[in-house]
Amino acid sequence: MKKFINKKFLVFLILNSSLLFNSCDDTITNQDVDSTTIPDRNVSFSKHIYPVFQVKCFSCHGNGRYEAGLDLTLRARFVDGRIVVPGDTTTSILVWRINRPPRAGFSPMPPLYMPQLTSNQIRGIKVWIAEGALEN
Ligand code: HEC
Repeated sequence: MKKFINKKFLVFLILNSSLLFNSCDDTITNQDVDSTTIPDRNVSFSKHIYPVFQVKCFSCHGNGRYEAGLDLTLRARFVDGRIVVPGDTTTSILVWRINRPPRAGFSPMPPLYMPQLTSNQIRGIKVWIAEGALEN
């Protein structure tokens, strides 16, 4: 038995278990998205926008809770010509809400007591909409 539990074997065990642990942990955090810079053009929905919505909006607009009936988990559900108008940031309700300050008469999203969007994320979402709100 003693022969089996030598140093090399222990290191092997520890490395393997941490690999296993990391590969199972796909939770993204505010820190992850806040440290990712969204470019000025060619913004990708899947790479840049969805992860931001996932950590900053899904708690109220996804995962079984849909405030105002709004589901942000599927692009087709909110790129509807009202919440998001492809190519038009001035009439998209989503932009009215994420702008700081928001449009007069509209409460800010996310609500002020929640982790806020960074200015880079606000700009990135607007660029994505201006570029056609693509499923890219
Ligand atoms: C803590 C809960 C919460 C979070 C987080 C949140 N929302 Fe909301 N959202 C609400 C509530 C409640 C309403 C309905 C009340 C209102 O209109 O202000 C709403 C309404 C909206 C509306 C208006 C829908 C309509 O039909 O007019 C938009 C757009 C919106 N949210 C976008 C977002 C976005 C984008 C995020 C993330 C950046 C976000 N929300 C995060 C609670 C939340």
